[in-house]
Amino acid sequence: MNPLLGCCCFLLWLISGSFAIDLSSDSIDAWETLTNSSQYRSWPNLSRSRAAGLRAQRDVAANISIVYNVVAGINLNTVVFDTFGYNETSLRQFRNLLNVGIQTFVVDLYYNEDDSNWGLCSKEMIIDQLNTSTGQCDASTFNISSLVTTLNEFIVETNNVLSINVLYLMFRLNAFSFNETYDNNVRTPNNLSTYINNIDKVVSPLVIDPDVLPTLTSLLFKYGLRVFPIVVQNNLSKNTSYNINEDMDVLYVATDSPNPKQSNYLTLSFKEHTKINCQNYPRDIRPHLQFSYDSNDLPFTYNTYPESIGCGFSPILNHRFHNISELSNFLELSLWSWGPYQPTITDQDELDIKNFINEIDSGDLVINSSTFNYSDYEYNSNGNNNDQDDDEYLNRCAALTKIGWIATSCDRKMHALCQNKFNVSEILITDDKISYMKADVQCQNFNGDTKKYELAVPRDAVQQTFYKSFIGNDSIGLWVNLNSLSSENCWVVGVNTNCPYQIIVSKHIFATLISVSTVMAFLLFLLLIYLQFQRLPVHKNRKYWRKLLNERAKNNHDGVPS
Ligand SMILES: *[C@@H]1O[C@H](CO)[C@@H](O)[C@H](O)[C@H]1NC(C)=O
Ligand SMILES: *[C@@H]1O[C@H](CO)[C@@H](O)[C@H](O)[C@H]1NC(C)=O
Ligand SMILES: *[C@@H]1O[C@H](CO)[C@@H](O)[C@H](O)[C@H]1NC(C)=O
Ligand SMILES: *[C@@H]1O[C@H](CO)[C@@H](O)[C@H](O)[C@H]1NC(C)=O
Ligand SMILES: *[C@@H]1O[C@H](CO)[C@@H](O)[C@H](O)[C@H]1NC(C)=O
Ligand SMILES: *[C@@H]1O[C@H](CO)[C@@H](O)[C@H](O)[C@H]1NC(C)=O
Repeated sequence: MNPLLGCCCFLLWLISGSFAIDLSSDSIDAWETLTNSSQYRSWPNLSRSRAAGLRAQRDVAANISIVYNVVAGINLNTVVFDTFGYNETSLRQFRNLLNVGIQTFVVDLYYNEDDSNWGLCSKEMIIDQLNTSTGQCDASTFNISSLVTTLNEFIVETNNVLSINVLYLMFRLNAFSFNETYDNNVRTPNNLSTYINNIDKVVSPLVIDPDVLPTLTSLLFKYGLRVFPIVVQNNLSKNTSYNINEDMDVLYVATDSPNPKQSNYLTLSFKEHTKINCQNYPRDIRPHLQFSYDSNDLPFTYNTYPESIGCGFSPILNHRFHNISELSNFLELSLWSWGPYQPTITDQDELDIKNFINEIDSGDLVINSSTFNYSDYEYNSNGNNNDQDDDEYLNRCAALTKIGWIATSCDRKMHALCQNKFNVSEILITDDKISYMKADVQCQNFNGDTKKYELAVPRDAVQQTFYKSFIGNDSIGLWVNLNSLSSENCWVVGVNTNCPYQIIVSKHIFATLISVSTVMAFLLFLLLIYLQFQRLPVHKNRKYWRKLLNERAKNNHDGVPS
């Protein structure tokens, strides 16, 4: 073994050793372990479990149209700027919100008719700034350019296959003037397009036809684009001196018409969250992007927020927060796919905590451990009849529960969700409770037909809701086709699928092994990647394959299971 690599591995062993967590049958320890990696505790950084969860969700949905993509959003004005001020502090908060995985931002833009400039401050704020030295709006540092700069810094940092994702910028356009009359013929206004064109990886209606939005993979990797600039509300009056038509090539304009007339009109629902229509699966209507927002009077709760997601509407938080980190509780519920604190990066199996699913389902999310009543939860240490210390499949397989996917032991016995490959509406649930490995095989052999059925995995929020309806009252969850068997924290569809990111890493090795300094730098990089995608130890892998083969063979002999 290369001595450098050996040194590296030693370091790894040291690090992984120090993070090892002892299992305990105590519910307090169980909760501590789970919430240790929560978004609340990790704020303002993205929590490790959410990083893995967002990536898995993105990859599962990679081949479906982005119109079905449900993401978390906020209104920058009401949640950030009004609280932190129209200044650089708000820009730092904006960056934090990007970091923690918010993908939709609603922001007000103001056109000053007098100097033909676009900015982020309203007339009232500018007056306030002029009259008092402690005014709210500091346009010399807080302007559309600096907002774009902050966004671009994030985009550059996350332009890698592990973190890349789509973003939606939703503009509300306003105009004001200090003079009663103004001459709208003499000046050449500075266009919004100038700012939009400066956004890195920005999507334009010239490249992506709003009538046929692409799949996520296609958008991110074929076109190499990420940011949709969309006008959701145009409050410019008829007599404004600004000509929005000049921005037609760079800005999408939201419309609720299903058959838009102009080439940059994007059909989109943007609705107050109590007024949305829940979508059914499979869909029979023309698909379009859907967003819901709340207000101070009707704020999202830990119940209505995930409900909106389950209906296929990306929720936009628009109500005031006392402390911005309280957002993290909504973020914990913001993946349409995974349940809160999932996929767990600890040895803790959420399904072993009694009442967990019911409490989360009833909107009782843990804000922080000091306000949490542990006696409501009992840790069910022998619920799975497994010697967990010896369970190499611990939290390596995903079950669909009422609160989303939960990473659990592949040896757990549960019903499996099988789907007809040729008719997405036809769902069959296995009669027996079986292990994950058996679930895969049983679905394939359902009704003696080896080609027709497969272990299913939901690809979007509405499909997930449809699948959830098959969870019986007596059942905690159903096996779905998702596992991290090949690599820890790397979730893939299919028992035999390898983690795609490891291939990238090893290709990278050969390309980068040029000089000693690059080797050193690269080993550090490798260490980081390795920590994220630690493989199952070789001997365990071998055991796993043997077991899998045995199960396959057994099933063949036993004939077709029900
Ligand atoms: C967030 O990340 C930074 C940089 O990696 C680190 O220094 C800081 O301790 C982290 N904060 C938390 C709360 O994890
Ligand atoms: C997407 O579809 C292509 C072609 O059908 C396939 O090769 C690829 O593996 C799919 N990707 C995912 C993540 O399912
Ligand atoms: C906008 O903010 C940036 C950075 O904070 C500053 O350099 C720039 O001069 C500002 N632009 C205007 C027009 O004030
Ligand atoms: C522009 O129109 C609005 C109403 O649409 C009116 O209130 C405003 O006074 C007008 N401004 C000018 C400068 O004519
Ligand atoms: C915690 O829950 C238990 C059982 O539900 C209850 O008896 C107890 O009063 C609760 N404690 C607090 C501090 O709410
Ligand atoms: C698909 O499956 C559903 C549910 O089993 C059934 O009602 C429907 O008729 C099937 N469609 C076709 C085309 O077979």
